[in-house]
Amino acid sequence: MVKIDTIELPDFPLLLAPMEDVSDPPFRAVCKDNGADLMYTEFISSEGLIRHAIKSEQKLDIFDYERPIGIQIFGGDEDSLAMAAKIVDVTNPDLLDINFGCPVKKVACKGAGAGVLKDIDLMVRLTDAVVKATRLPVTVKTRLGWDEDSKNIEEVAERLQDIGIKALAIHGRTRAQMYKGQADWTLIAKVKNNPRIHIPIFGNGDIDSPQKALEYKNRYGVDGIMIGRAAIGYPWIFREIKHYIQHGVMPAAPTLEERVAVAKKHLHKSFEWKGPIAGINEMRRHYANYLKGLPGIKEYRNRLVTLKTVPEVEEVLNEVLTHYQGVEIEQTPIVLENYHEHCAI
Ligand SMILES: Cc1cc2nc3c(=O)[nH]c(=O)nc-3n(C[C@H](O)[C@H](O)[C@H](O)COP(=O)(O)O)c2cc1C
Repeated sequence: MVKIDTIELPDFPLLLAPMEDVSDPPFRAVCKDNGADLMYTEFISSEGLIRHAIKSEQKLDIFDYERPIGIQIFGGDEDSLAMAAKIVDVTNPDLLDINFGCPVKKVACKGAGAGVLKDIDLMVRLTDAVVKATRLPVTVKTRLGWDEDSKNIEEVAERLQDIGIKALAIHGRTRAQMYKGQADWTLIAKVKNNPRIHIPIFGNGDIDSPQKALEYKNRYGVDGIMIGRAAIGYPWIFREIKHYIQHGVMPAAPTLEERVAVAKKHLHKSFEWKGPIAGINEMRRHYANYLKGLPGIKEYRNRLVTLKTVPEVEEVLNEVLTHYQGVEIEQTPIVLENYHEHCAI
């Protein structure tokens, strides 16, 4: 068992990474159903929260079936972060996560997200302000350092642990790398193997298959892994990794029925949470992924993205079920998108 303060997680937990514009309640629902052990909200601006910006407040929505769940905030100012932490407190998640990893200019170059990696003293002050402001366990997600010449994660881990964080998730890239190159987990392993470190250390970056998850588990000895891009359009990644780690073989791929069921559930949650217009429109980008590998699916996909109501979409999904009964679904490897050029954040 892995413990984050009093939160008990199974051995080698699989975490759904916080992802702006992706890890909203509808997406989290299908990841939870398929084995995510701990999930996070999208990152929320502390400044937005204290100014009651609608977009920020909406991201605070969490549901009991999602537990354990963490709310992630970011910011570069102690007072704002502390005030935001108090607002988060009221919504009662299981933990509060601070983002010190976001590389995009409008965050990192304003002294928040990965920008804080340039100044560890500031990072310690910001974290301390949050730890003192909330009764929740505080965790941090960050990168290896600002750039190749300043990979300071080992010092960061010790100092943040000393002021009371309860777990650390590390994306094995620097800010300068954005999403380029390959995530380097050797430094993550160094943090984990530091005898002074006793909080759980979660590795993150480029996990795209059960085989890689097991290989990295064994090679780097982390307490668990956090998965981001691989879960987009393929929430089954969690259960596949679990099965592979436990049994050493791949489980059966998701069936046609499961794919359609996930598409329907995502649609319903999207409709409930985002409302009839955004709920249906924003769901459109997901059909291609859920129905991938079905020969000639394009024709159905093209129809799905024009429909305006839930019953209409469901009708076409039911047609897909009937039409593709018994048809073999081609399983293709997951391709991780390089988000550094058109990152949503
Ligand atoms: C679309 C997108 C949005 C992201 N938003 C956030 C975020 O809000 N907070 C955060 O800490 N990281 C964010 N990340 C980074 C991911 O949490 C994760 O660290 C990164 O994608 C590497 O993991 P992966 O290789 O498993 O995708 C985002 C990544 C993507 C692709």
